[in-house]
Amino acid sequence: MKITNSVAIVTGANRGIGASLVRALAARGARRVYAAARRPESLPMAAGPHHNVVVPLVLDVTSTTQIATAAATAPDVTLLVNNAGILTRGGILDADPDDIERELAVNFLGLLRTTRAFVPLIEANGGGAVVNLLSVLALAPMPSTAMYCAAKAAADSATRSLRAEAAARNITVHGVYPAFVDTDMAAGINADKADPAQVAEAIVDGIEQGTENMTPDPVAANLWQAWTADPRSLDQLFAGG
Ligand SMILES: NC(=O)c1ccc[n+]([C@@H]2O[C@H](COP(=O)([O-])OP(=O)(O)OC[C@H]3O[C@@H](n4cnc5c(N)ncnc54)[C@H](OP(=O)(O)O)[C@@H]3O)[C@@H](O)[C@H]2O)c1
Repeated sequence: MKITNSVAIVTGANRGIGASLVRALAARGARRVYAAARRPESLPMAAGPHHNVVVPLVLDVTSTTQIATAAATAPDVTLLVNNAGILTRGGILDADPDDIERELAVNFLGLLRTTRAFVPLIEANGGGAVVNLLSVLALAPMPSTAMYCAAKAAADSATRSLRAEAAARNITVHGVYPAFVDTDMAAGINADKADPAQVAEAIVDGIEQGTENMTPDPVAANLWQAWTADPRSLDQLFAGG
């Protein structure tokens, strides 16, 4: 789809990749970008050069009430970007039980419920796109962040199911599989990290080009290639992490 004249909503828009996506979509000519955040007062771009386009919206994706209110407030959406996410640590045997619940509530159920609320609106507006921020860790698990990987793998599966369902509604569905990106989420990680602004530009390019599976940084592209050639090779690569 073309970004020009689209009406987008980005969840988790107040920092990291989400904030960069809001800026990139506004700069590419989106007519309106709903910048959804748990605390809209924390949105840095509401006062920036795109303030005429950016509309702050309250949205905690774990709240079914707030999802319903957001959908009622933004009925003109044609592009949903499910970006909100959390990263918790811990293995299958020792992850904190509360973290297990939170991982699924935000990274899987939040994405699922937000999608179910907005897809009918996008369809009613003539079609558009859904973009899900997943991870290379959706493809193969890193045992030290086992529940994040499990939640992202579930979101990846939902993305592919939705793709089949949404095609008849004139909606394209895009999965995004970054490696490490230089945001708060990856703050403690000592590795090559992509620039969130460049990642956002690559995602917006991918939407316009209709790319279903996006690897928005070079490390992700290499890992995707390895996974395509031999899925188990990635399990082995990540096993020590
Ligand atoms: N950074 C990486 O290396 C990396 C790699 C692969 C994939 N990703 C994915 O990319 C997406 C963005 O990550 P990021 O790196 O930009 O992370 P980030 O800097 O930690 O930002 C996370 C965003 O999600 C929001 N959020 C968290 N819980 C929420 C909830 N319940 N409801 C609504 N918003 C919520 C945060 O809002 P608050 O400010 O209110 O907490 C924040 O805006 C995530 O889905 C992440 O899994 C990131």
